[in-house]
Amino acid sequence: MSLLTKPARLPLIAPSILAADFARMGEECRHILDAGADLLHLDVMDGHFVPNLTMGPDLCRSLRKALPGAYLDVHLMVTDPEMYVEPFAKAGANLLSFHVEAVAPERIGPLVERVRRLGMDAGLVINPPTPVERILPHVRLPDLILVMSVNPGFAGQAFIPDMLHKARTIRPLLRPEQRLQIDGGVNLGNASEVRAAGCDVLVAASALFGVPAGERARVVAALRG
Ligand code: DX5
Ligand code: ZN
Repeated sequence: MSLLTKPARLPLIAPSILAADFARMGEECRHILDAGADLLHLDVMDGHFVPNLTMGPDLCRSLRKALPGAYLDVHLMVTDPEMYVEPFAKAGANLLSFHVEAVAPERIGPLVERVRRLGMDAGLVINPPTPVERILPHVRLPDLILVMSVNPGFAGQAFIPDMLHKARTIRPLLRPEQRLQIDGGVNLGNASEVRAAGCDVLVAASALFGVPAGERARVVAALRG
């Protein structure tokens, strides 16, 4: 039973470990899952598709080893996602999401299939400046659509409210077992609006790791609503 396609509860809360303390990564991850989070969101950046360098398959492998039961959601912000499908499958990723901006339209379907053949769920991501029309022909293919609500690259940016229109456009087109994820600037101030727009997987970095550890369970519960 997949956490994504047959979730016991919705929305799912997906802490992005980009804002965790990298020197205490295992402990931070274990603690946020104990605080009620549903999965871990890993932001993979190559310094080319986005102007930052973050984490790769080695970290994913270490987290898989330390947390055998955790659902690991890998968000690829890289110029050549095809290159990283096998490395992340071998490193124990559960979901591999790639950007519609990084792959030629005719390669999207085959790439989704390749991700699935390697035992992972597949996600397709759209950036804020990209018109929603670009993703519409592909929305029913993957297991999850991710609407970016900041320009990717860094945690701690302000939510772009216009992206809720995109979510509202995509939501009615999805199959019931498909998830709609939103990522960037999600916090306690906008979570209810985000949920009302049909988003059912909420990514948050700063809102969760930017508060003292003792407050995180409360924030997880409040984001869920
Ligand atoms: C942005 C990343 C996000 C980011 C979210 O490039 O894809 O996952 O970590 O950070 P917050 O929640 O702080 O906006
Ligand atoms: Zn992300």
